[in-house]
Amino acid sequence: MSFKTEPIIELTSVSWLRSGKIILDQINWKVYKNENWVIFGLNGAGKTSLLNIIAGYMQPSTGRVKVLGREFGRYDLRELRKSIGWVSSSLKEMFYPSETAAEIVIGARDAVIRMLRKPESAEVDRALMLLELVGCEQLAARQFGTLSDGERQRALIARALFNQPALLVLDEPVTSLDYLAREELFLILERLAADPQSPAMVFVTHRFEDIPRQTFSKIMLLDQGRIHSIGSLDDIFKAATLSDFLGRPVRVNMWNSRFYVQPAQSDKEE
Ligand SMILES: Nc1ncnc2c1ncn2[C@@H]1O[C@H](COP(=O)(O)OP(=O)(O)OP(=O)(O)O)[C@@H](O)[C@H]1O
Ligand SMILES: [Mg+2]
Repeated sequence: MSFKTEPIIELTSVSWLRSGKIILDQINWKVYKNENWVIFGLNGAGKTSLLNIIAGYMQPSTGRVKVLGREFGRYDLRELRKSIGWVSSSLKEMFYPSETAAEIVIGARDAVIRMLRKPESAEVDRALMLLELVGCEQLAARQFGTLSDGERQRALIARALFNQPALLVLDEPVTSLDYLAREELFLILERLAADPQSPAMVFVTHRFEDIPRQTFSKIMLLDQGRIHSIGSLDDIFKAATLSDFLGRPVRVNMWNSRFYVQPAQSDKEE
């Protein structure tokens, strides 16, 4: 058996209740270094709530949350958040449109949404290097508000990487992107994962064809706050499991490392 270090994320019987409703129900989950996970669930399944609990934005009603070896309630959350790179569509709205892409990237250093000090030259160099990594070094001096959605998403990935996080969380990062921008983003994640120093990644989506199978090999299927299935992506992405998950018969095709799920037409097609 291979030796495993301490998990990056360790959730033990985590439940979260709001307004008398169980939003997360007895979640047990461990993420180790070099593991890349997809959290898949339909709208309202509890995916974003789970991420909010991991980042300490919300306390679980019951259960234990340990992230990067530290248990919640026992350390400075702001410091912990600097070790978690966070990318989500909703984040885009939080930044000042007049800030430049480089300033937004460097703002990660202080975990702020607006730079209130002059950046050091080493910080500028790092921001440029990261913007180059995500293929938008030419946008460094452009105001954030003038970038397209896809460009903003990439700039936010550069920002999320600024502090060399141990964990990179991507909440529906491609939902608003066109086909080409999505494929480019997947290539960025693939390049990132090839680096031995890369952070563990958690990628949240509700669309089958948005699962970047080249880079992500583990999956949690979340169904109304409960784990339906958890484990290897290729084991779980079978017609029987997904039919049970969706409550209707479906067939699963894989083409070019992408999953396509369609209603089963007949018994023959599973
Ligand atoms: N603060 C809150 N108070 C009450 N209910 C909440 C709260 N936050 C989330 N919920 C509910 O919890 C459920 C899960 O929400 P969540 O945002 O985690 O889903 P999701 O899986 O991310 O969905 P989507 O794919 O639409 O982003 C939803 O029914 C939502 O209305
Ligand atoms: Mg969500």
